[in-house]
Amino acid sequence: MPARTKPAARQRAAPQNSQAIDFPTKVHPGSALSVTHFTLEDVSEILAQASRLETMPVLRRAQLLAKRRVALLFYESSTRTRTSFELAAKSLGADTVLVSALSSSIEKGESLKDTGITLRALGAECIILRHPNSGAPYLLAHTTGLPILNAGDGTHEHPSQALLDLRTILSRLFPAKQRNSVTARALHGLTITIAGDILHSRVARSNALLLPRLGARVIFCGPEALLPSTAAEIGHGVLIERNFEDALKQSDVVMMLRIQKERLAGLHLDLEDYIQRYQLDASRLSAYAPKALVLHPGPMIRGLEITSEVADGPNSAVAEQVHHGTAIRMALLFRALQTKPTQSKKKSRKR
Ligand code: NCD
Repeated sequence: MPARTKPAARQRAAPQNSQAIDFPTKVHPGSALSVTHFTLEDVSEILAQASRLETMPVLRRAQLLAKRRVALLFYESSTRTRTSFELAAKSLGADTVLVSALSSSIEKGESLKDTGITLRALGAECIILRHPNSGAPYLLAHTTGLPILNAGDGTHEHPSQALLDLRTILSRLFPAKQRNSVTARALHGLTITIAGDILHSRVARSNALLLPRLGARVIFCGPEALLPSTAAEIGHGVLIERNFEDALKQSDVVMMLRIQKERLAGLHLDLEDYIQRYQLDASRLSAYAPKALVLHPGPMIRGLEITSEVADGPNSAVAEQVHHGTAIRMALLFRALQTKPTQSKKKSRKR
């Protein structure tokens, strides 16, 4: 696993259009490590499967992964992601076990590799991993051979969040028949501003790697300390706008991000000035983007990046994001446990 997190712009660029970056060999093909491994066909299948599973009778759904064993391995705290993965697994009938850093042998110094091997020996068939180090899910995938679902790794990626954000955007802004299948032009003409702590955000990274492949324009917005100029090099379709009002004027969707205080060491940020320039409050929203859909991956710090009036207002789809999270995670779990490890991903993939 890389010892240090790479700055956003130095990591590889987003693939163009419908192309996916080759799936790493020896990684179980049911894994979800990065959005860049998904073709647009994969994304469409996940969206369609999420809808099928969501509308399926509860008892039938609970048979699908009956008694399959899913481990949730969380080295960082989480409310939404952990709970929705757990509820998703349970509604498919799987048995779940939570291993968190503070209540396990991780606290005694056990390595990620040994923890993964132990979980596999205990019968885990799939591991959902959240880890502070970018790249940790790759290590776990290689060492266990199990399908690994990345629930957020350092400042790298958060693939299930980007998929649930996509499902929220599709369900709010598009007619029903366009919600379960995407093409390279599915979001053509749509501008999505992601504002706040881009530098530390795996949510921003996964969205910026996914949404432009569907034709969207992504604007990163924030001060230099939280958004280095090189961030736009993440891929085509991503640009930087420092002025929040100018970004809002162009936006159909505004995704607000939390300032990640736990990752701010060494950075100088004047919070009062930040609030002045970048807080999404009702007057800013109504003056510059009155129709924009407002998203936030949570946790929200009300009064800092967003006001309560906006968070609870009519433009906000924050609670819907959480709701879509469960359906997306059911689809990812089903895919993880239905995909055969021996099946050659490359041969079966249409690019
Ligand atoms: C985010 C995360 O942990 O990456 N939250 C989430 O999973 N919904 C964002 C954050 O911590 O600010």
